[in-house]
Amino acid sequence: MNAPLRFGMIGGGAGAFIGAVHRTAATMDGLAVLVAGCLGSTPERALASGRALGLPADRNHATWRDMLKAEAAMPAGPRPDFITIVTPNESHAEIAAASLRAGFHTVVDKPMTRTAAEAAELAHVASSSGRLLAVTYNYTGYPLVRQAAQMVRSGEIGVVRKVVVEYHQGWLATDLAAEGQKQAAWRADPARAGAGALGDIGTHAENLVSFVTGLRLASVLADVTAFVPGRRVDDDASVLLRFDGGAKGVLSVCQVAAGEENNLTLRVYGTEGSLAWRQENPNELVLSPREGQRRVFTRAGAGSLDTARASTRLPPGHPEGFFEAFANVYRGIVERIAAQRDGRPPADHALLVPGPAEGLRGMRFIEACLASAQASRWTVVG
Ligand SMILES: NC(=O)c1ccc[n+]([C@@H]2O[C@H](COP(=O)([O-])OP(=O)(O)OC[C@H]3O[C@@H](n4cnc5c(N)ncnc54)[C@H](O)[C@@H]3O)[C@@H](O)[C@H]2O)c1
Repeated sequence: MNAPLRFGMIGGGAGAFIGAVHRTAATMDGLAVLVAGCLGSTPERALASGRALGLPADRNHATWRDMLKAEAAMPAGPRPDFITIVTPNESHAEIAAASLRAGFHTVVDKPMTRTAAEAAELAHVASSSGRLLAVTYNYTGYPLVRQAAQMVRSGEIGVVRKVVVEYHQGWLATDLAAEGQKQAAWRADPARAGAGALGDIGTHAENLVSFVTGLRLASVLADVTAFVPGRRVDDDASVLLRFDGGAKGVLSVCQVAAGEENNLTLRVYGTEGSLAWRQENPNELVLSPREGQRRVFTRAGAGSLDTARASTRLPPGHPEGFFEAFANVYRGIVERIAAQRDGRPPADHALLVPGPAEGLRGMRFIEACLASAQASRWTVVG
C-alpha cells in the first residue's frame, strides 16, 4: 500500500464551516494526512488554529504566502502533495494560482473564484502548470448521484426533456450578517463573495444538473432578488434553462426559504421515465418509468450500479451522507495525483472529480443569471 499523500490547508480554522469537513473527508480513507496549514485570516488566528490541530511549529504558518514559500522549499519527503483552499471566495483565485505556480496540486472549494474572468485566468494557470486543480462540487460524490448519471448515460430514462432542480435554504431569511454571524458576513458582501445565493448554492445546483444529465447549458432567463432589506447580494433566483439539443429546465435557488435546511432536490424527466434524488435523503434514488413499476434504489442495495457501489463504504441501511460523499471526491483527487506521480491512467472514479472546466462553467452560469436578470432577457451562458 502506498503511503498517504500529504496536504496543506489554507483557511478552515477554528469557527470555520467547511474546513473541518475537508479535513475529515480527505483523511477518511487513510489516503491523505494534513501536514501544514495557514488556517486563519490573521497570523494570531492562523497559528492558534494550527496549534489546536497539532501542527508542528515549522509547518504552522502565519500567512498563506509564507506557507507556500516555506512548503515549496521543503525536500520532497515532507513537502505537501496538494494544498486545499477553503477561504471565502474573494481569495480563491489569487491563492489557487500561487499554489499551482509553487508546484502544488490544488483543491479549491466552490465557487472556483469570484468572477468568470478570474476563473478563466485560473483555468489557464492550471493547464500551464501541469498540476491538478480540483473544485469540490461535493454533491458529485454521492453514490446515487453517480448512479443517476450512469442511468441517464445508459438510456434508462430515454432522451432527457426537462430538468427541475431546487436548492432551498432558510438560514438567511433574516439579516444575519448585521448580527455579525461569521459565515453570513462575507457572503453578504459582494466584494468578498461575488454573487449571493447564486454563487453559494446556485452553482451547486447547476453543477449537479450538468453532472447527472451531461447536458450543456446554453442560455438562461433569470429573475433574481434580494428579499432581505439592505442585502447587497441576491438571496433568491428563479431561472429558466435551455440546453443544447432542446432540453429545458427550471432552477430555483433560495436562501430565504424560511424553514428549509439544505433542500437540494433534482428531478430529470426523459422520454421513457424520470429520476428523482434529494440531498436530505441521499441514500435513495427513485426511478419512475413511463410504463412499469416505480423503483426505489437504495445506496449499495439491490440494483445499485457499479459506480454507486464503488463510492460506498457501508452496507445498505447504514446511512452515509455529506462527509462520505465529500470523501469520495477526495478519493478521486488522491487517485488522480497518485496516477500522475506513477505515470499510469487514473481509475475511472477519479475521472468524475470536477476541475477547472466545471469551475469556470459555474462562474459563467452565475454571471449569465445576473446579466439576464439585469436585462430581463435570455442570456447565453458563455
Ligand atoms: N462545498 C460545500 O458544500 C461548501 C459549503 C460551505 C462553504 N463552501 C465554500 O468554502 C469556502 C469557505 O466557506 P466557509 O463557510 O467555511 O467560510 P468560513 O467563514 O466559515 O471560513 C473561512 C475560513 O477562512 C479563513 N481565512 C479567510 N481569509 C484567509 C486568508 N487570507 N488566509 C488564510 N485563511 C483565511 C478564515 O479565518 C476562516 O477560517 C467558501 O468559498 C464557500 O463557498 C463550500
